[in-house]
Amino acid sequence: MVSANDLVRLATAAAQRASQYLRTVERPRDPTTWGAKGPADWVTEVDRTSEELIRDVLLGAEPDSNIIGEELSPQLVNRGLVWIVDPLDGTTNFLHGVPVYAVSIAAAVDGELEAGVVLHVPLERTYRAWKGGGAWLGDQRLRVSTHTNPRHSLIGTGFPYSDFTTLDQYLAQFARVVSHAGGVRRAGAAALDLADVAAGRYEAFWEQRLSAWDIAAGTLLVREAGGKVTDFSGRGLGVEHGEIAAGSPEMHAWLLSQLWEAES
Ligand code: 2AM
Ligand code: CA
Repeated sequence: MVSANDLVRLATAAAQRASQYLRTVERPRDPTTWGAKGPADWVTEVDRTSEELIRDVLLGAEPDSNIIGEELSPQLVNRGLVWIVDPLDGTTNFLHGVPVYAVSIAAAVDGELEAGVVLHVPLERTYRAWKGGGAWLGDQRLRVSTHTNPRHSLIGTGFPYSDFTTLDQYLAQFARVVSHAGGVRRAGAAALDLADVAAGRYEAFWEQRLSAWDIAAGTLLVREAGGKVTDFSGRGLGVEHGEIAAGSPEMHAWLLSQLWEAES
């Protein structure tokens, strides 16, 4: 059985390998070379190469582990040691040269999150968390925000970008939150949004539809920084994907109340 500490070390090494590559590779400027998984849901050679580099590091050290990776092996597996990998979170930002994108790697054992690493590539910042060990940026321990007045809050979100079937629900949620919070931001990389919650920059964050690899590592960061991560009904999230609401305990509760108000 590998210790949570070793899992963090290995995930960090794999994320650094991918990050070195992402920092040096030429960004594909020609949209005809961008493959699409859905409308405006881009995947490029860069995403795939990054995932291969990560796989090499992780499977080289732990050959019996499994990988759930956005580009090469998206099937969910729950048994034993499973790495949940987004080789490039914020692909759209990357493609446009907006310096907000990350590598996200979590380790789960029998479906339970044990370790998580989110590496902000342009800023070369590595966020790490392990179960029971806290959330860290370098040697700085992270804590969620202590602001409890919604008017002092900055709330992160993700707009729908590909599937617009629930756009009306989103717009109602947005109207409610934007008119009661201090401010709302859309950065475009969910793993970094969750790191911002863990670091106490955002009081809370919500998005309607995210995948396991977008949120696994960030979920552990938020929990280990003292925050909550649930669906919109307040149920805890497993490795599966879907809607997500995260925040400090107080502002998570406030955000859920706003999302419920938006339904009425
Ligand atoms: P990705 O870059 O790994 O695909 C936030 O909305 C999340 O949705 C991001 O973490 C991003 O993850 C994903 N996403 C996919 N396509 C997007 C788009 N066109 N605009 C914004 N986010 C997108
Ligand atoms: Ca991705």
